[in-house]
Amino acid sequence: MKALCVFTLIFNLGLIFSKVNAEPVEDKEALLDFVNNLPHSRSLNWNESASVCNHWTGVKCSEDGKRVVAVRLPGVGFSGLIPPKTISRLSALKILSLRSNVITGYFPSDFINLKSLCYLYLQFNNFSGTLPDFSVWKNLTIINLSNNGFNGTIPRSLSNLTQLEALYLANNSLSGKIPDLNLPNLQQLNLANNNLSGSIPQSLKRFPSSAFVGNSISFDENLAPRASPDVAPRGESHLRPKSGRRIGETTLLGIVIAASVLGLLAFLFLIVACCVRKKREDEFAGTLQKRGMSPEKVVSRNQDASNRLFFFEGCNYAFDLEDLLRASAEVLGKGTFGMAYKAILEDGTTVVVKRLKDVNVGKRDFEQQMEIVGSIRHENVVELKAYYYSKDEKLMVYDYYSLGSVSAMLHSERGEGRIPLDWDTRMRIAIGAARGIARIHAANGGKLVHGNIKSSNIFLNSQQYGCVSDLGLTTITSALAPVIARAAGYRAPEVTDSRKATQASDVYSFGVVLLEILTGKSPIHTTGGDELVHLVRWVHSVVREEWTAEVFDVELLRYPNIEEEMVEMLQIAMSCVVRMPDQRPKMPDVVRVIENVRPNDSENRPSSGNKSESSTPPPPVAGEN
Ligand SMILES: *[C@@H]1O[C@H](CO)[C@@H](O)[C@H](O)[C@H]1NC(C)=O
Ligand SMILES: *[C@@H]1O[C@H](CO)[C@@H](O)[C@H](O)[C@H]1NC(C)=O
Ligand SMILES: *[C@@H]1O[C@H](CO)[C@@H](O)[C@H](O)[C@H]1NC(C)=O
Ligand SMILES: *[C@@H]1O[C@H](CO)[C@@H](O)[C@H](O)[C@H]1NC(C)=O
Ligand SMILES: *[C@@H]1O[C@H](CO)[C@@H](O)[C@H](O)[C@H]1NC(C)=O
Ligand SMILES: *[C@@H]1O[C@H](CO)[C@@H](O)[C@H](O)[C@H]1NC(C)=O
Ligand SMILES: *[C@@H]1O[C@H](CO)[C@@H](O)[C@H](O)[C@H]1NC(C)=O
Ligand SMILES: *[C@@H]1O[C@H](CO)[C@@H](O)[C@H](O)[C@H]1NC(C)=O
Repeated sequence: MKALCVFTLIFNLGLIFSKVNAEPVEDKEALLDFVNNLPHSRSLNWNESASVCNHWTGVKCSEDGKRVVAVRLPGVGFSGLIPPKTISRLSALKILSLRSNVITGYFPSDFINLKSLCYLYLQFNNFSGTLPDFSVWKNLTIINLSNNGFNGTIPRSLSNLTQLEALYLANNSLSGKIPDLNLPNLQQLNLANNNLSGSIPQSLKRFPSSAFVGNSISFDENLAPRASPDVAPRGESHLRPKSGRRIGETTLLGIVIAASVLGLLAFLFLIVACCVRKKREDEFAGTLQKRGMSPEKVVSRNQDASNRLFFFEGCNYAFDLEDLLRASAEVLGKGTFGMAYKAILEDGTTVVVKRLKDVNVGKRDFEQQMEIVGSIRHENVVELKAYYYSKDEKLMVYDYYSLGSVSAMLHSERGEGRIPLDWDTRMRIAIGAARGIARIHAANGGKLVHGNIKSSNIFLNSQQYGCVSDLGLTTITSALAPVIARAAGYRAPEVTDSRKATQASDVYSFGVVLLEILTGKSPIHTTGGDELVHLVRWVHSVVREEWTAEVFDVELLRYPNIEEEMVEMLQIAMSCVVRMPDQRPKMPDVVRVIENVRPNDSENRPSSGNKSESSTPPPPVAGEN
């Protein structure tokens, strides 16, 4: 009995010990040897003293943390030969992706040790020489060696890979006959643009002719070209967003005209539109590519590596444009400067991709502005992670905030199930956003303008403070030209004429956001009838009558002892939205007065978790009648 206990104790200790020390030391050394001996243009956050499993970009370990099982390093700018006896020491590796680099040399012969390999992505590199004997990798499921310089024949050993589902060898210099690969599981095949000859073997006739184009293969008449959307490689025939969208817009315009003629029809249309929209949201499976961005359009093979996604220093994402376009994407909304998408990458990373429209500056000016915006690192400014510029596409990549914007939090449907934004959170949003905007105004020698401050561009950071997004785009786009109703409520009066955002107009917009936070009302809303009400004018009129609690959001009335703070905040907001630009305070002053409303914010206040109002019923608020 005793012996058993001692045994279990030791056993448990051993378990704990192995858990703490789970770091795969040898795999870590192999990875360091690899990365230290292969030049690369983007820096990796592979800190020797950090945990390889938890902190190293692009590395995944097995569940017990004992081995590295996945290495994904696309687009890191690796150039040269893969140093021998490095990657090959990761003998438990299942996934290897080194695609979109500039790796040269033969297919590494020591990869023969990677016996567990399932997914191999080496496309878009400069490998050359012949393909290896594949029969050693029994578990290979996806092989992508396309867009390299491999020559020689397609090895017959591929037919030993019973698990193989996808084989991409397109855009190499392979020659000779195509072997009769009897692979029942093979679903995707692309051998296009090589120097293959002969005919298509029986077992591969089920694939569309597009899998074989660009070779000197004789297509026999039995092989009627079949279009199979699943297997066909991306080509020119893909979605043509421009014309498609134009049709959409014309139709919409027509509908709008018709609707304005017939009120009843408009009502019906609204119902239909709602249904259609709902349906569209259900189809989550779309990718950015399916939404009209195709890599053929945005990257051409001949362009140098600089014409890829540009990442800012310190960004530890590991993905490239191709990943991004393949990511499943959901429309987040149509912003002032273009569509925003939520994209979920293969490895689970979620980012926001903004697709800019109406960019009216050249590459150099664009890059300059991105440098300014990207250089801002502040806890209250949403970091720009990466951007992309080509003639046809301009993309910006940001972190994704799962809680949604302040606008969504304030205005999402009220009623049961809604968690009201409490006063503490609202104060933190205001303080954070003010600090963020002040930081933005300090950038570029104190000249940077945000230009698009509104509650839908403010998010909550990890400390639940406001965090500002979407800055600095007004100078590079012509988006101000068409008056967009949604942004109009935030626009300072002088901007409507000058069409030029300034730091003073930013202060005005921030004032409107403050009013929104205090009142819970949208900057432009309707009351009862269909009359449009501007929030600023409405607040003015209510305040002119007399100071009443009517201004404030009813959701706030349940929190005790906050009237004083609310009134102070209202005064600050009113000072920001004064008509004359030069009478508005500067952003650093705004930060100071807001911080004074609640001194020592972080230290003295109880956190929202143990607030009294969550347990006791709210006392009646003075002034409410
Ligand atoms: C690596 O991590 C250690 C501790 O985690 C830290 O002190 C050090 O600054 C880091 N080095 C780099 C280069 O990030
Ligand atoms: C191949 O996969 C099977 C099933 O997942 C596994 O049992 C086997 O160990 C793998 N082979 C190698 C060499 O890793
Ligand atoms: C990569 O290969 C292409 C075509 O084979 C060649 O033009 C280019 O110079 C190579 N790049 C490097 C960095 O070796
Ligand atoms: C293989 O790479 C090509 C690019 O050459 C890409 O179009 C294709 O989707 C990739 N296939 C897989 C299964 O990764
Ligand atoms: C393949 O290319 C290499 C150089 O990269 C060359 O030495 C070799 O002769 C070529 N082999 C074939 C079969 O064309
Ligand atoms: C590959 O398959 C062939 C038959 O298709 C067989 O003769 C050969 O031994 C296999 N090779 C390996 C390494 O399994
Ligand atoms: C092969 O290269 C051409 C031109 O560089 C490109 O259009 C095509 O998409 C590539 N094919 C694949 C499968 O990557
Ligand atoms: C293609 O293969 C033929 C022989 O089949 C050879 O004569 C020709 O040079 C090859 N072309 C290229 C571009 O490798």
